[in-house]
Amino acid sequence: MLFFFVIYLLVLDMFLIYPKLQFTKKRKKNPMGNCIPSLNKEIKSLPNDAIFKLPSPLPNWPPGTGDFGSGYIDLGGLKVCQIVTFNKVWVIDKGGPDNLGATFYEPSPIPDGFSMFGCYCQPNNKPLFGWVLVGKDNVGEILKNPIDYTLVWSSESSKFKNKNSNDHGYIWLPIPPEGYKALGHVVTTLPEKPALDKIQCVRSDLTDELEVESWVWGQGTTSKVNGINVHSVRPQERGVKAQGVSVGTFLARITSDKDDDSNKTLSLACLKNNKFSTFSSMPNLSQIQALFEQYSPIIYFHPKEKYLPSSVNWYFANGALLYQKSQESNPSPIEPNGSNLPQDGPNDGAYWLDLPIDEKNKEKAIKGDLLNSEVYLHIKPMLGATFTDIAVWIFYPFNGPGTAKLGLVDVPFGKIGEHVGDWEHVTLRISNFNGVLHKVYFSQHSGGTWLDAPQVEFQNGSNKVVVYSSLNGHAVYPKPGLVLQGGGDIGIRNDTAKSNLVLDCGKNYSIIAAENLEIIVPAWLNYTREWGPKLSYTLGDEVEKIESSLKGNLKGAFEKLVKVLPNEVYGEEGPTGPKMKGNWNRDEV
Ligand SMILES: *[C@@H]1O[C@H](CO)[C@@H](O)[C@H](O)[C@H]1NC(C)=O
Ligand SMILES: *[C@@H]1O[C@H](CO)[C@@H](O)[C@H](O)[C@H]1NC(C)=O
Ligand SMILES: *[C@@H]1O[C@H](CO)[C@@H](O)[C@H](O)[C@H]1NC(C)=O
Ligand SMILES: *[C@@H]1O[C@H](CO)[C@@H](O)[C@H](O)[C@H]1NC(C)=O
Ligand SMILES: *[C@@H]1O[C@H](CO)[C@@H](O)[C@H](O)[C@H]1NC(C)=O
Ligand SMILES: *[C@@H]1O[C@H](CO)[C@@H](O)[C@H](O)[C@H]1NC(C)=O
Ligand SMILES: *[C@@H]1O[C@H](CO)[C@@H](O)[C@H](O)[C@H]1NC(C)=O
Repeated sequence: MLFFFVIYLLVLDMFLIYPKLQFTKKRKKNPMGNCIPSLNKEIKSLPNDAIFKLPSPLPNWPPGTGDFGSGYIDLGGLKVCQIVTFNKVWVIDKGGPDNLGATFYEPSPIPDGFSMFGCYCQPNNKPLFGWVLVGKDNVGEILKNPIDYTLVWSSESSKFKNKNSNDHGYIWLPIPPEGYKALGHVVTTLPEKPALDKIQCVRSDLTDELEVESWVWGQGTTSKVNGINVHSVRPQERGVKAQGVSVGTFLARITSDKDDDSNKTLSLACLKNNKFSTFSSMPNLSQIQALFEQYSPIIYFHPKEKYLPSSVNWYFANGALLYQKSQESNPSPIEPNGSNLPQDGPNDGAYWLDLPIDEKNKEKAIKGDLLNSEVYLHIKPMLGATFTDIAVWIFYPFNGPGTAKLGLVDVPFGKIGEHVGDWEHVTLRISNFNGVLHKVYFSQHSGGTWLDAPQVEFQNGSNKVVVYSSLNGHAVYPKPGLVLQGGGDIGIRNDTAKSNLVLDCGKNYSIIAAENLEIIVPAWLNYTREWGPKLSYTLGDEVEKIESSLKGNLKGAFEKLVKVLPNEVYGEEGPTGPKMKGNWNRDEV
């Protein structure tokens, strides 16, 4: 690892000494039109300049009725196009994540008639993988040049400059005409203001408010440091009905420890899809099927996993029971299609589901039914329907207990962490311009992680996303290994590993909801109560039982661990179904 890092730094140095090593570009016709240019293969470039490509070439998507896959999206008079190839403008070799600096790029080539909204910037600690939108005014008066620029920052006037070169960078903020907004910055290597026709501002009614997303470069990760900071941005409102469109640009500002962020209006805006309600950029059913065939996750279970997934119908048909409060002695069987589950209403504890009572049937149910399992897809228009999120929901009849790791010793957590009915999900974020997978979200109980496509493992040369389900708890991870929840070497184990236990999500799935399509919603989706009973054991007793089996230091360590773990670990409540989760209508958190 260190070795590669040193090589990487050497190459980085080389580039900085010979700044003329630039991209050479070549426009090539391709099925998406000239919107997606390809780069000449013989270019000399930095390791972080190699543009990521999915392992397998993408098919031609089946025809649809709208903009999906065409390379362009009409936002209501403003046509936009997603550019993934760039000209390098300026490199700074320090600051930012891992103190490796960042690189500023201009989209290039830009298709005829389209204009730039702003530059792209990313940290130097990862391969080039990004995009910015460029736009074309199909109506007139939607786009206007700025009336002036102000200099946000330059390395010349800053102590914060390149270690290894005298190149200077200048970050400009366009000043929009009245009634218009700027969407991004221009970056130059000269102190003169850029030409006014370098960039376009957008009429305010086609813009939305944005917020800071993650730190790209600058003085410090928080906005409470004095100096320049560059952040990626995203629409403030994000969800299946939100019209805000990410432009892919960055926000540069001078921050100060005296800043009151809550009160500060940001100098840039994002776009807004005024044609959102027509869903004309969303894939239709045939296109969704083709996308899922391409990227459908392959889920690996731990070799010791005993609690495997099943289809919901199998679980219902194999003895799951519906309980009603104050009639606990008389549970009802559930129709295989869930049609006798109570619909809608608040999650008030009036009903819950549980495993069969009969021991033999219970044993069968908790093991799941991997071979005939089914996953459930929710199709979500995101970022103003410029992306499609495919949320893939997996059901497990049973979530097994946790294992505590106390230094070198593993201690089974008794019943702690066990619960009936476990819903997990993984989400694919796909560009509606071209059907390219951009990000994958791995859910880990109440939280999760987004990874960019280059950081994701793909199955054996295909574009299928590899996912690891943790032993017993089924949290979804991008890598095999051990993740400890807790502190130091004390925590709850989440083990993942490859084994013969595999779920190929593409083999058996059904779409249970889609904002843009008429879908027959299964009755169980509208069941709003919990899929398992409340705590089937007394936490205190359980903790005591484990503690009394431990000696000396372990006892102390265990006590410490119990205090710091969040409630969710104890599985105090059975979980609710997919529709009750915060991310059902909103972005993942
Ligand atoms: C998707 O749209 C295309 C073009 O209109 C149409 O031929 C195809 O049948 C549609 N697919 C579905 C499943 O509706
Ligand atoms: C916040 O904004 C309000 C209204 O613009 C202003 O009156 C107030 O002084 C601001 N507060 C701070 C701490 O900047
Ligand atoms: C569910 O299954 C029952 C029979 O088990 C049937 O009567 C009912 O029509 C089905 N409901 C739906 C919505 O398919
Ligand atoms: C797909 O899932 C359904 C349950 O919803 C099940 O009946 C069927 O056997 C599964 N098919 C395959 C091929 O696994
Ligand atoms: C991987 O791909 C190769 C060639 O396409 C195939 O022969 C092999 O069976 C695949 N392995 C797995 C585990 O899918
Ligand atoms: C580890 O597993 C526990 C129990 O399954 C779960 O609640 C927790 O969220 C997991 N931790 C992480 C960091 O994923
Ligand atoms: C489920 O709920 C949605 C919205 O609440 C409703 O439109 C739909 O008809 C319901 N489906 C069933 C099967 O009850």
